[in-house]
Amino acid sequence: MRLNGEISREEEEEERKGEEVNSVRYSIGGSGFQHSQKMVVGYALTSKKKKSFLQPKFIGLARNKGIFFVAIDLNKSLSEQGPFDVILHKLSGKEWCQVIEDYKQKHPDVTILDPPDAIQLLNNRQSMLQDVADLNLTDCHGKVGIPRQLIVTKDPSSVPYEVTKAGMKLPLVAKPLVVDGSAKSHELFLAYDENSLSELEPPLVLQEFVNHGGLLFKIYIVGDTIKVVRRFSLPNISKCELSKVAGVFRFPRVSCAAASAEDADLDPRISEYPPRPLLESLARELRCRLGLRLFNIDMIREHGTKDVFYVIDINYFPGYAKMPDYEHVFTDFLLSLVQNKCKKKPTT
Ligand SMILES: Nc1ncnc2c1ncn2[C@@H]1O[C@H](COP(=O)(O)OP(=O)(O)O)[C@@H](O)[C@H]1O
Ligand SMILES: [Mg+2]
Repeated sequence: MRLNGEISREEEEEERKGEEVNSVRYSIGGSGFQHSQKMVVGYALTSKKKKSFLQPKFIGLARNKGIFFVAIDLNKSLSEQGPFDVILHKLSGKEWCQVIEDYKQKHPDVTILDPPDAIQLLNNRQSMLQDVADLNLTDCHGKVGIPRQLIVTKDPSSVPYEVTKAGMKLPLVAKPLVVDGSAKSHELFLAYDENSLSELEPPLVLQEFVNHGGLLFKIYIVGDTIKVVRRFSLPNISKCELSKVAGVFRFPRVSCAAASAEDADLDPRISEYPPRPLLESLARELRCRLGLRLFNIDMIREHGTKDVFYVIDINYFPGYAKMPDYEHVFTDFLLSLVQNKCKKKPTT
């Protein structure tokens, strides 16, 4: 089955050029001394990401705070560029890991947002959710886990048997195992019966579809800051529908194209935000376990419950422009990196 889609995803080809902004200085008030400097953030982002993230208002605000963005030219040696205080990127792979490693050796003070090998964990839907599965958050006014899932790496003919053996409930969501930014890696399918699963192409993750009232929570993390927005998602699938339908269907693209559900008049049992203590513990744990500071979490509340949540997706450096007040949150976060460094340095 081949179905072409209208997928528009944020990650695409690598970006090679950008704008350079210069001059102006800011002051960081330390304890008892004034440290005057500017912060140079080298970035390696796709042109699409650059357009959505580096908006004029954001660049202007950053400049007023002494933060300057400089495009990294991936065709040139990194050490010939900069020096950078921060490197902002969304790349992984062995070669890039080495480039970053070498740069860090020469410039030990540079902050890498984030380490390429940590980003790599999110490029596979199994390793992406492993830390959530291992979590055991207690006393957070709620529970968080991942939907029951099965990894299919080879011959899909045994899948119907494996699914039954694992006691997985239909319908199932089939997701490509590897997330590489291509449209295909976000082509999801919904399977109403086990037998049609053998039509799908491994490697895959098969995940139980969790009814969640058609609403999804996008939890944005920027360092210590957490912001949640609500988006429309797939509607519940009733037992009746399940009994009548068979086959595998291409998922409508809901996750990034979905309209904001912030202003919608929704059932409060569905739209109520997840408890703050739960979000804080989850974010803190994942920041630490994943070794990442910039990511978002797609989370759903199991329909009919008040406090049972599932994480279904984690993305590195998501579309922050959709996060409320991202300009201030992000610039403050960048400044906090320098301030923390100043605090750590011994005074002479
Ligand atoms: N296990 C699930 N149960 C219910 N809905 C799901 C499940 N997994 C994904 N979805 C729906 O599909 C959308 C896309 O899935 P996601 O795993 O976020 O993939 P992508 O990488 O394409 O964003 C989600 O935003 C949600 O609406
Ligand atoms: Mg998603």
